[in-house]
Amino acid sequence: GKRTTVPSIRARKVDGTTEQPIVMLTAYTMRMAQLLDPHCDMLLVGDSLGQVIYGLPSTIPVTLDMMCAHGAAVVRGSWHALVGVDMPFGSYEASPEDAFENAAHILKETGCAAVKLEGGEAMAPTIEFLSNRGIPVIGHVGLTPQAVNVLGGYGVRGRKDEEVYKILADARAVVDAGAFCLVVEGVLEDIATRVAKGVGVPVIGIGASARCDGQVLVTEDMLGLFERTPRFVKRYADLASEIGAAAERYAGEVRDRSFPSADETYRPKT
Ligand code: KIV
Ligand code: NA
Repeated sequence: GKRTTVPSIRARKVDGTTEQPIVMLTAYTMRMAQLLDPHCDMLLVGDSLGQVIYGLPSTIPVTLDMMCAHGAAVVRGSWHALVGVDMPFGSYEASPEDAFENAAHILKETGCAAVKLEGGEAMAPTIEFLSNRGIPVIGHVGLTPQAVNVLGGYGVRGRKDEEVYKILADARAVVDAGAFCLVVEGVLEDIATRVAKGVGVPVIGIGASARCDGQVLVTEDMLGLFERTPRFVKRYADLASEIGAAAERYAGEVRDRSFPSADETYRPKT
């Protein structure tokens, strides 16, 4: 099989609608990528790995090196899905030239096909600069977690009229600048639907609307592995309890010396 391409994702939206919604999940490791890849159109190496993998308080401290290491692992573990890698805070905001250098580094180090960066109108010149120079860009508007210090938290966006206008203007600016798809996160359902109807490229929702052109979740959230999850996360598994139960059984068998048994020990050949 051939890996999903940027033009094929872009082409999933025709005349403002996407017949089959785009399936996206996050992945940070080789093995998780292998397991998710057959079911996903896109895998996102999100900077959410800051909290999920590294226990950081936000995505702010995430580095380019972290994104490259995990991005390369996910590309190695996948063969079908298009892999996108988040640009970390501080790696793209200062200038289009800086952003290009760092995005090129991500593509070279990981083998991914696209980068994602947060922001609307202010980032449009950067998105245009990258897109015109061989680097496909996924936009991200609405609740943008790297702006936590400006927004003052992770609350849903679009409850005030001026926020609604800003989100719609941001989405249009990002798409006009050349983003081939767009994540809309943490906004009122009606606003997410208006964003999806209002732009020509696929809009991938998270905490958004079923009428988006696709959906994304943080995999650890939907697997029930991460402790705190927002309302928009649906749990498709409860792996935290399974892992706890497995560790408990293991600990018991180590302590009563029933592990390792004959099946798990090497003996002379007879
Ligand atoms: O970092 C991330 O996981 C993301 C998705 C939730 C869209 O940006
Ligand atoms: Na992110």
